[in-house]
Order: sequence, then structure tokens, then C-alpha cells
Amino acid sequence: MTDARIAQLHGRRVWDSRGRPTVEVEVRLRDGAVGRAIAPAGASTGQGEALDLRDGGSRFGGLDVRRAVGSVNHEIAPALAGRDAGDQEGVDRLLVDLDGTPDRSRLGGNAVVATSMAVLHAAAASADEPLWLRLSGGRPVRIPLPEIQIFGGGAHADRRVDVQDFMVVCPAAGSFAEALDWTAEIYRAAGGLMRKAGKAQGVADEGGFWPAFDSNEEALETLTLAIETAGFAPSAQVGISLDVAASQFGRDGRYALALDDRTLDTAALIDMLGGWIERYPILSVEDPVGEDDHEGMVEFTRRHGHRCQVIGDDFLVTDAKRVEAAATARAANAVLIKPNQAGTVTEAFQALRAGKDAGFGTVVSARSGESEDVTIAHLAVGWDAGQLKVGSFTRSERMAKWNEVLRIEEALGNSAEFSGWSAFPSTTAVS
Ligand code: PGA
Ligand code: ZN
Repeated sequence: MTDARIAQLHGRRVWDSRGRPTVEVEVRLRDGAVGRAIAPAGASTGQGEALDLRDGGSRFGGLDVRRAVGSVNHEIAPALAGRDAGDQEGVDRLLVDLDGTPDRSRLGGNAVVATSMAVLHAAAASADEPLWLRLSGGRPVRIPLPEIQIFGGGAHADRRVDVQDFMVVCPAAGSFAEALDWTAEIYRAAGGLMRKAGKAQGVADEGGFWPAFDSNEEALETLTLAIETAGFAPSAQVGISLDVAASQFGRDGRYALALDDRTLDTAALIDMLGGWIERYPILSVEDPVGEDDHEGMVEFTRRHGHRCQVIGDDFLVTDAKRVEAAATARAANAVLIKPNQAGTVTEAFQALRAGKDAGFGTVVSARSGESEDVTIAHLAVGWDAGQLKVGSFTRSERMAKWNEVLRIEEALGNSAEFSGWSAFPSTTAVS
């Protein structure tokens, strides 16, 4: 007999991929089913995000999470006792109400998202269903197109290059497994090119190469060459996806590119990125201008959105209302979905649905601070997001997610449909 009411909920402190404390929540249901989840953490966070609760002080640079773990064990656990784990919306509403702030800052976004995801896992375990299948509700789903980082920059590599993520996408691959095969070859080729040129300096926060390039464009040149060296046709088979994360180097329409030693206004930044889109096989650009630069997002989307995916991350912060407003204003054509930016699973799903309703591309995304938790792999498949962004093709906190999607693709067998070019519903860049 299944009984999905919550019997026990426990928070503990564990460690993330940057060696920083984070929150893990374990939920046990009356029927014995167990769910567990770990909160991730961003470094280049948007202003409108749910806020993690950190202890401050000198211990671990102020990043300890004893108070957030206390929220789980002393407030959330008693409030959720006896609740039906199958009612994710009800659980998430209770978490939001219990917190009582617009940004989850009282209980902590880390405490809230880990609880929300742990309950989701417990409910799937109780129903004896894989999480992705439960989330799909029986509707057809696609295996997501992976966006995989080759070079890291921005806040993840001490601003060694201004652009935060130089990624590849393989929409012409026949399956997720094949997209990973192609990426592995490109990653190897990029490493070889960098070592030969003396430009590899280890790895950045998400595991991509930490590059000693002399300009942002050198990264684009090297990546294009790596795609060709690995034997693939740029654009036709493999594209570049950039996360500019422009809020990290500019606001109020002034952008200081440290590497290129230039300060640009919004129009000049859009021109520069437009030049890159002309010259390199760029299929997707995230946060091309600052999160406060609404007009800039509208202008960038008007100029380049017909041939390039324009993703809002810091700009939309996984918020359904912001996604709806951006759709009306045509200020993006795709949305990044980070559960811990929204606060709960339900709110992340609402942002994804708002994106789909608007015809946007939807990209479920990890954070730069991650763990062995693979929840987002299941969200990307079960919600039929079409795209999944996890970071690089090294380090087990990243590979755990890619490998989980491989398992799901295998379980689906012949009925597995890889999203491929259909990942980009709103651009004509794609054939
Ligand atoms: P973050 O960056 O997790 O450090 O915020 C990821 C991103 O900008 O997509
Ligand atoms: Zn981003």
C-alpha cells in the first residue's frame, strides 16, 4: 500500500562542487519511500532571484548554511508533517507561505528548493515511477539538446575572458548519446589546440577550460576551429552557444570589456555581438545585455532573434510574470529555467509553461555551484523542455546529469525522440 504522506523530513549540511556548504533535504513518506535533493548555488546571480540563507561571519567565508538547515529541521519539517507528497503544488504553496517573503530570504532559497525537490523525488519513489516519467504525466517528451561548455569565463574564471560561457550545441546529432559523442571529440580537439598554443590554464568553475586568450574573439575562433578539427560542419551540424552574462560587466548601458580594453554602450555591445553572429556559427546567446537593460534586450531580439536564440537568464530569473512580459515586449525568445532561481519546483514549472505558451525555447539549467544531484536531468526530459544546460564535459557534478539523461534515453528505447533542431522553436536560424 502506498501512503505518500510525509513522515519525516530532515535537513543536513553537505558540500558543493566549489567546496562550499550547501543544504541537502531527505524526505521519508509513511510508505517508506524516500526522496533526497541538494540545493545548487549560483555565482553570477540575477537580482530578482530567490535568496539563499547563509550564516555570514568568518566561518567558510560567511557561506555556512547552519541557519538554512535549521529552517528545514525546525520550521519546514513540522509544517509539512502529514502532507501528501503527491500534491507538489500544495507543498510548494505551503513553503512559499511559510517563508512569507517575496525572495525566500527568511527560510532561505537553499532550504526551500532542496525541500521542494526532495518531496518531488519522494512522491515519484512512492509511485514507483522514474521522476521524468512522473513529471511527463504520460505526455510525449523529447530528450533535450545539451548545451555544453568548452571554455569558462566571466565570474567563473576570475574574469579571464569577459563572456561567461562558450558552449557547443549539436542539433544535427541523431540522439542525445550522439550529441555527447560529438561534444567529447570537440572538447578533446579544443584542449589540443589550446595546449599547442600555450593557452590552457586549468579548468573554470563549471569544468570548461580556463582560457588564456587575448581577446573574446580568440575564444570564438578557437572554438570554431575545434569544431572543424573534430570533423564537424560549423552551423550545419554544430553551433556555438554563448552566455554573455552581461550584467557581470555592465549596467546602465555601460559595458566594460576588460579583455578587449573597451567600454561600450548598449548599441555598440549589440553591434559587436551582431558581428560575432555574422562571423561565427552562433545559434544561441544568453543575457546579451545587462539584466536592467530592457530596451537593449528588445533591440537585440529585434536585430538577431530571427536567426539566433535569445535567452533570458538573469533577465527573467525563472519568473513566469517576467517571461510573459518579455514575450509581450519581444525582449527574448527563450528562457533559462533554474529551479533555485524561482524557489520551488512549481514556480519553475510555471515559468517554463509561460515560456512554452509564448513559443519560447526553454532551457533547464544547472548552477555554477552543483553536486551529484540529478533532478534537473529529469525536469528537462519530463517537462519536455527541449534543452539542458549543465556546464562542461568534465567533472562528475556535470557528468552525473549528462549520464542520467543517457540512462533515460536508453530506457525510452525506440520511442526516444531527440529534440535536435526542434529545441529552437522561435528562430529561423535553424533548418
Ligand atoms: P551561475 O551562472 O550559476 O553562476 O549564476 C550560470 C549562468 O549564468 O547561466
Ligand atoms: Zn546565464
